[in-house]
Amino acid sequence: MNDWKIVSTASVTPNKVVTNDDLSQLMDTSDEWIRSRTGIKRRHISTSQNTSDLAAAVGKKLLLESGCPAQDVDLIIVATMSPDSYTPSTAALVQGKIGAGHAVAFDISAACSGFVYALTVASALLKKPAFNHAMVIGSETLSKIINWEDRSTAVLFGDGAGGVLLSTSADHHLLGEDLASFGQLGDKIVAGQTPVASAFPAPVAKLSPFTMDGRAVYKFATHEVPASIKRAAAKAQIDLDQVDHFLLHQANARIIRQVARRLNQPLAKFPINIDEYGNTSAASEPILLAECVKKGVINHGEIVALAGFGGGLTTGTIIIKY
Ligand code: ACO
Repeated sequence: MNDWKIVSTASVTPNKVVTNDDLSQLMDTSDEWIRSRTGIKRRHISTSQNTSDLAAAVGKKLLLESGCPAQDVDLIIVATMSPDSYTPSTAALVQGKIGAGHAVAFDISAACSGFVYALTVASALLKKPAFNHAMVIGSETLSKIINWEDRSTAVLFGDGAGGVLLSTSADHHLLGEDLASFGQLGDKIVAGQTPVASAFPAPVAKLSPFTMDGRAVYKFATHEVPASIKRAAAKAQIDLDQVDHFLLHQANARIIRQVARRLNQPLAKFPINIDEYGNTSAASEPILLAECVKKGVINHGEIVALAGFGGGLTTGTIIIKY
């Protein structure tokens, strides 16, 4: 049975940087409030590139860095909650933009857990003989679905994309995984609702912007993320002390600190870059992974737990030997 390994990582973030002070010019907020509640100092905002543009830029970097020809890519999965359109999928747009003519391409919608969900699906497909090289990308332009008049959500999010190129491998790199969904809590994070109109013919529906019950999500994350990580570690038959790095979804630095405490693990094992990017949903973990690899924080042979949580509500953890 085939296993897989990560052969390259990459990330792309838009050039426009919006600081907390910039936001305080637009709404009743402050650098002190945002920084102390979330750890966010600034975020990158796209003013021209859509989700597929950022994802395709990541795809091109992955090809360049790995030396893998576009025609050899068999699978492209994009995790996103801010796609360019209902159809075509963002992944299909990426396939066209990078010229990966032989790849099967589709999106996954699991909000901030999306990257872990997409890795898990890619992992299953890579066991089939037809799939040897897979691109898994998390990409978001959340700025286009944010209600910029709602300070309780507007200050939290940013745009960006990150991804990995996976290739089949004889070595054992996937150690354990855990996915869980909590549909009864679906109303805690909602974006892009399109109700069915009562009239016929109906006007073209407008999408509703992002809303979130921040306190409920905070409580959910601090309980369910440690539980998911523990279940994945049990499946991997490893002790948490053996995990070298915990790459958590970057939603709130306080949540990350709380998860570290609940797992009884040193905070030094939890890299954080939310100060620079804010919450980039499905893109946050692959951006962090790419940065950690580039900086030499994560090295080959180390054990890495990637854990996400978000809309659905959903959680997901995957433990790999990098
Ligand atoms: N600036 C200043 N004041 C603000 C702001 C702001 N940007 N936003 C809210 N406030 C005010 C509120 O109005 C409230 O005032 P009041 O006490 O007078 O009513 C006060 O600050 C406290 O508001 P809370 O919402 O209770 O603040 P809290 O301490 O809970 O922090 C936060 C809010 C940061 C959103 C926190 O709840 C959180 O991080 N939750 C988790 C969010 C998350 O993880 N999301 C990830 C999933 S997202 C996804 O899947 C896409």
